[in-house]
Amino acid sequence: MADEPLRSIGPIILLGSPGAGKGTQAKRISARYEIPQISTGDLLRDNVRRGTLLGLQAKNVMERGDLVSDDLVCDMVAQRLRQPDCARGYILDGFPRTAAQAAWLDKFLSSKVFDNSKGDNSSPGNWLPIVVRIEVDYNKLSLRLTGRRTCPTCGRIYNIHSRPPRVDEVCDFDGTPLIIREDDRDEVIKERLATYERQTRPVAEYYKAKGRLFSVNGDLPVDEVSETIFHDIEAYSDGTAGSR
Ligand code: AP5
Repeated sequence: MADEPLRSIGPIILLGSPGAGKGTQAKRISARYEIPQISTGDLLRDNVRRGTLLGLQAKNVMERGDLVSDDLVCDMVAQRLRQPDCARGYILDGFPRTAAQAAWLDKFLSSKVFDNSKGDNSSPGNWLPIVVRIEVDYNKLSLRLTGRRTCPTCGRIYNIHSRPPRVDEVCDFDGTPLIIREDDRDEVIKERLATYERQTRPVAEYYKAKGRLFSVNGDLPVDEVSETIFHDIEAYSDGTAGSR
């Protein structure tokens, strides 16, 4: 029998405070539905590493734990979403993060024509985003962030407390020495958490009012969080879910 065509999923937005597990879950969603993870943090860090004009503009802001300007980030996201690998859907990890970014995305999505030729969802309404908010007890976030280690080669995320690599400070998958993110220092973490409360938490309310928000308990083990998210995505795609 011929392979089933891959189903179109549309945009999935992951919201949640720094350390909530957006990157961890985005990688799992990406693997399950074969759609790309678009992390604005990763894209910005890549620009900083390469010393591009965007990277130079973003570097100091990121080191302080503030947000990069809406215009710069929206232009960067628009460019990425026009790539062909986004045709069936994608995961936005860390975007939108302000009311202005959310309004920009709504406008972008309503003007965007997706290639549905390989999917079974032909109604434009199916391209409304599924918004998943991962909620974690505030007191656990700092420990998660200071314990985080990342593989600079494959992007795998570890945690010295809850998900340690088999060999200390080395990636299980490719043997690369793990790194600590520049902004995972106590003083910057404090500022990032405050920025989230001030500017990003209201974005969840924006989607809640539109009936598109699903909240999941991110305090649970990683596999359990993933199962809940997969369930919500599939129920939403089938039209059997109401937001919560
Ligand atoms: P960004 O890179 O997006 O960072 P963030 O939002 O602060 O989120 P993190 O990546 O720190 O956490 P996460 O939720 O992905 O958690 P993770 O899965 O790694 O942004 C960085 C900066 O870029 C911003 O401060 C800003 O300056 C700029 N920027 C980015 N986007 C922007 C935008 N749209 N507009 C303007 N500026 C922007 O998990 C964390 C740790 O917890 C890991 O060690 C992991 O192993 C562990 N963990 C995960 N899940 C669990 C679990 N269920 N149980 C136990 N441990 C877990």
